[in-house]
Amino acid sequence: DFSSLKLSRPELFDFEGVSMIHYFTDNWEKVKNFQARPDDILIATYPKAGTTWVSYILDLLYFGNDQEHQTSQPIYMRVPFLESFFKVIPSGTELADNLPTSPRLIKTHLPVQLVPKSFWEQNSKIVYVARNAKDNAVSYFHFDRMNMGQPEPGNWNTFLQKFMEGKNVFGPWYDHVNGWWEKKQSYSNLLYLFYEDLVEDTGREVEHLCSFLGLSTSIEEREKITKGVQFDAMKQNKMTNYSTIPVMDFKISPFMRKGKVGDWKNHFTVAQNEQFDEVYKQKMKNTTVKFRTEI
Ligand code: A3P
Repeated sequence: DFSSLKLSRPELFDFEGVSMIHYFTDNWEKVKNFQARPDDILIATYPKAGTTWVSYILDLLYFGNDQEHQTSQPIYMRVPFLESFFKVIPSGTELADNLPTSPRLIKTHLPVQLVPKSFWEQNSKIVYVARNAKDNAVSYFHFDRMNMGQPEPGNWNTFLQKFMEGKNVFGPWYDHVNGWWEKKQSYSNLLYLFYEDLVEDTGREVEHLCSFLGLSTSIEEREKITKGVQFDAMKQNKMTNYSTIPVMDFKISPFMRKGKVGDWKNHFTVAQNEQFDEVYKQKMKNTTVKFRTEI
């Protein structure tokens, strides 16, 4: 059960060149052979980039009028986490195979090269969400502190050093955002969104999503959704705030923590920031993707 997870945090190991924990590789045969459908919508992100936010936006766009759907199941059951295999809830592949609604919304944190090939074969739509490295690192640090299903993060400085080396679950942030960015150039059914844009103008990004998905929602509907997915609303909402997952200790840090752009300034020392910028320049020298660390 979940309480035993509290006793033993998982260890990081190398899996096909990516740092992983066993919860995301134990079901690999099924993940690798997962049968995607043409109308599936895959929500892909590096952990802590705004996965839950975009999952909930899409869930409301498709199933917002279904009251029962909105109140009976938390978001992590409605939007299966494909590679997850926690044993206490059905695996991601099992949940996805048994989803009663369509289209299926499916979440993954896999780097692009590990995504099951049927998604490409079926030409499924994919929404990728990226968040600037500094805020992403801060959010991931607090997540690893409070989630006993994640490796022990150590203190902030230890964690930051590991982040720069890519020693996090799902590997280096840099490779993840760059790999998906590159994919976008050849795969037209991929929408690449930024967390910072969502914070800046959620309504505009909801519209952006609608046009990518070919949805004709009314202005009123979009306004209602935009309101319902604001940070405070989602923090209060038991279906979206992860309060039903016992493996997370909200006394250490809540899942819906701050939801801001620029919180990194409260964590990075001047020296850490200089070192980070130096590493960033190196790792990002061959890409055109640009991030905003403040808005
Ligand atoms: P912080 O830790 O910076 O607060 P994920 O869903 O990928 O795990 O990402 C979680 C991060 O997204 C957390 O960041 C969380 O607060 C933020 N988030 C979730 N919903 C949000 C919303 N409606 N508005 C702004 N940020 C949101």
